[in-house]
Amino acid sequence: MSKKEKTAKPREAPKSGKSEKPLEVVIVSSEAGPWVKTGGLADVAGALSRAMAQAGSKVRLFIPLYKSIDRKKFKIPARGVKFSVPVSARIMEGSARVIRPSGGLEVWFIEQEQYFGREGVYLDPAGHDYPDNLERFAFFSRAVLEILMTSGRPPEIIHCNDWQTGLIPAYLKTIYAGVPFFAKTGSLITIHNMGYQGRFHPSQWHLLGISWDHFNPGGLESYGQINLLKAGLVYADIITTVSPTYAKEILEPDGGFGLDGLLRYREDRVHGVLNGIDTAEWNPATDKLIPSRFNYKDMRGKAECKAALCQELKLAPGEGPLLAVVSRLADGKGMELLAGCLESILAKGGRFVMLGSGEKELERRFLKIASSSGGRASVTIGYDERFSHRIQAGADIFLVPSRYEPCGLTQMYALAYGTAPLVRATGGLNDTVRQYDQATGEGNGFKFEKYSESALLSKAMEAMEFYLTNREKWNRMAGLGMQEDNSWIHSAKMYHKLYRLAAALSGK
Ligand code: ADP
Ligand code: GLC
Repeated sequence: MSKKEKTAKPREAPKSGKSEKPLEVVIVSSEAGPWVKTGGLADVAGALSRAMAQAGSKVRLFIPLYKSIDRKKFKIPARGVKFSVPVSARIMEGSARVIRPSGGLEVWFIEQEQYFGREGVYLDPAGHDYPDNLERFAFFSRAVLEILMTSGRPPEIIHCNDWQTGLIPAYLKTIYAGVPFFAKTGSLITIHNMGYQGRFHPSQWHLLGISWDHFNPGGLESYGQINLLKAGLVYADIITTVSPTYAKEILEPDGGFGLDGLLRYREDRVHGVLNGIDTAEWNPATDKLIPSRFNYKDMRGKAECKAALCQELKLAPGEGPLLAVVSRLADGKGMELLAGCLESILAKGGRFVMLGSGEKELERRFLKIASSSGGRASVTIGYDERFSHRIQAGADIFLVPSRYEPCGLTQMYALAYGTAPLVRATGGLNDTVRQYDQATGEGNGFKFEKYSESALLSKAMEAMEFYLTNREKWNRMAGLGMQEDNSWIHSAKMYHKLYRLAAALSGK
């Protein structure tokens, strides 16, 4: 799929999972599932690593060994390879612990007690960014390069993700520029969300180890601050983002969050590669986390999942559809729109289930709506992987009304579980959801354009009306949605091509 491609088409059936030439791939991420997850980045880093390995490449995935990672469950060894990294005037030591969860995949956990031996991943218990996040992720980024150099196998590509690893391309083109070991190593950075850039005060520059000459608009400086995402965007050989539509949106001021000028300057290096989903984890025919299993040929299990969910949540009985949200309650997710029109949706016969956490004001608003809904709405504040599966399986309509959404995964999970997505036409939501047309039977869900309460509400009304009046067509739409292929196979192939391109471009 090229970044020029306009809008959603179902993906074509893959020819084969094997790629032509296996590569030495290093993927670096601040989170990866199933080991540690705060959002979609984890799903992507974990699933893409497995998909690349399955396609034949040798993949080493690097993540920090946070305190929350279950050493016992994941059989992470107590000892590892020792290494040290200069951080400002100090030498910081750590160890790298390796596991091999499946053929072709190694996961390297970077252990460093002072940086990663604490409760949160990015935030303290009060929800504030850790003040030493620059230091933590500068250490992590440099540790990856130091460890690789002692491993004897130079990678053809280092695939970085988001600001936490944005320093790696910068290090490769500065401190490590003359190191023969990396002479043929290309770098690629994937932007998962322009809204998070890793901006820090210049007084922390000494922690990076990079010469101050690079603190300028052509380097790591942005609006007077150190910007770690920008570091990646300036120095990476290839830049990707997680959907074709978002690849265009980030070139505009609204989507670029201050970096659109730089992205336009590097536009020939920018590609949109749609995320896939892990079809082993998100498959209603085999999912052990849901009460009854089902597939598109036999949907009885889905009705059982809905009944069980309504009972579990003690929802008032009703004929109307069950609408659902599983989301971070954060800026960009469109939750303020939903809070504004949810009562009207309930009044028209909809019932509602939400699982989410984040901004306190939004949490309070949704809890209040639920408490005065007469049992028509259930709101759970928290993070619960298992519950999210039960919701996907039991709901009829899945809402993602985002103001912007780089890709979005939950709408694809919904499709796999026969739950119609209702989304705003932005980013990856635009690329994966096609408005249903009752006349032709084409389309897999519901899509509205304008970011407004009334546009969301009228789309919800349209979907509810369709559900109530034409269940046969509804079931056909859901069944076709379940058969769409949103697996990683296609996108892993695209990454494979881009890895080769980045390696060819390295040093140019
Ligand atoms: P983002 O990464 O911006 O949050 P995505 O749609 O890409 O959005 O990914 C969100 C991931 O996090 C999905 O796997 C979703 O199921 C999961 N998720 C979000 N909130 C919760 C929650 N409260 N409990 C369980 N899973 C959640
Ligand atoms: C980010 C984006 C989300 C995307 C995910 C994985 O968290 O907000 O849209 O699906 O990364 O790429």
